[in-house]
Parts: sequence; C-alpha cells; structure tokens
Amino acid sequence: MRFALFSLLLPATVSIGISAEILDYKKEVLGIMKKNCWDCHSSENEVKGNVDLDPGNLADQIGAYNIIRPGNPAESGFVERLKLDVTHADFMPRKASPLAKREIEAIEAWISAGAIIDAEKMTPDEEKRAAEAKPAAADMKSGEGTGDYLRWTNAAGKVIEARAVSLGADSVKLLLRSGKAYEVKFQDLSPESVEQAKKLDVP
Ligand code: HEC
Repeated sequence: MRFALFSLLLPATVSIGISAEILDYKKEVLGIMKKNCWDCHSSENEVKGNVDLDPGNLADQIGAYNIIRPGNPAESGFVERLKLDVTHADFMPRKASPLAKREIEAIEAWISAGAIIDAEKMTPDEEKRAAEAKPAAADMKSGEGTGDYLRWTNAAGKVIEARAVSLGADSVKLLLRSGKAYEVKFQDLSPESVEQAKKLDVP
C-alpha cells in the first residue's frame, strides 16, 4: 500500500510517497513467538493451554474478553504472563528466560495498535480496530530512548508529529499516534528534519 503521509494528514498539499504500515502480528510479533513459544504453542508442534500462536489460528485469542485485548495491553493476560517473575507458575515462556524488554514492548505496541494479524489481509473487524487504535499505541515505546513526538517537515514544508522508531542509512521510520509506522526517505524531508533524525538516539 502506498500512502502519501503528509498529504493524508493535510489534504491539498504536495504529496510525498511513503509506504504505510500498520504494526501487525506477522511483521512485529511472529518472529518473537517463533523464537520463544513455538515448541508449546503452534499447530506445527503442540498447542498447550489451548493457545495456538499460528497467525491462521491466533484470532481465537483476540477480543475484548480474551487474553489479547485489542487496544489494551495492560489488561491482556497474554502480556501479563510475560511480565511475571520467572518463578511464578503462570510465567511464560515456561521453563525459559523472560523475553527482552524491547520484545515485550513490541508486543504491547502491537496490541495497542489494534492487534492486527496481517495488515495486508485485514478483516472488517480488524479495519475497525486499526482505525480505533488509541494514541497510546505509540507511547508504549516511551522511555526506550526513542524519544518524544517531534515535528517533522517534509521537503514541501508540511508538518506532522511523529516519533522516530528506527533510523536507516537514508531514511527514518516514523510512528504516528495512530500506531501506523512510515518509512520516510531523507530526500522527502526538509534538511532540518534530516538533521533531527540523524541526531536521534534510535536503533
Ligand atoms: C515449554 C512449553 C511452553 C513454552 C515454551 C511456552 N508456554 Fe505458554 N503455556 C504452556 C503450558 C503448559 C500452558 C498451560 C498451562 C497454563 O495455563 O499455565 C501455557 C499457557 C499459556 C497461556 C495461557 C492461556 C490462557 O488461557 O490463560 C498463555 C497466554 C501462554 N502460554 C503464552 C505463551 C507465550 C507468549 C510464550 C512464549 C513467550 C509461551 N507461552 C511459551 C507451555 C509453554
């Protein structure tokens, strides 16, 4: 999907092409699950506790009364277990080390953004959840060195507010309050915004 980020927010401006991206399970979380949970929670292996983390079966775990509550990581039993002390009987991953802080934060950000499984094949319900995703989505990453929401200006002088989540050689990934992330090329930003990106302490 190609969106023009700045023009999307401020209609009737010069558009710059940016690929829009919703934080989805397949891109942001599946790798973490495969590394830490797969032996016990996948249709390929075993499905313990009735939790199958395969993307095709994950929808069963998502909902207002399920272990993954879209928009609400704090009340998601799924996240709660990851944060327990390793000695706690409910701690996950069982018999292993806790996930890294940034992995848990990635999971929280994904849930905040509506717990979408595959951004390229959203169900009507997921479309609705993505649209409703709280601004808190992006805040989940606070305190991690990614900094605050900053103002970013494109080459045509239009401004948006977003948080930088990662820095490439010639681009920066910006996260909007909606939870949508965009990879923006330096050539599409003002020189000041490029400077701002380069100074940030992001991975
Ligand atoms: C060595 C096997 C093993 C691994 C690895 C493991 N689990 Fe589990 N998990 C279990 C077992 C057994 C249960 C069922 C018993 C229970 O609920 O405590 C369970 C239950 C759960 C439940 C509870 C389901 C409910 O209905 O409350 C969640 C959530 C969960 N696991 C998530 C995870 C996640 C996420 C990971 C990876 C970070 C993980 N588990 C890794 C064995 C494992």
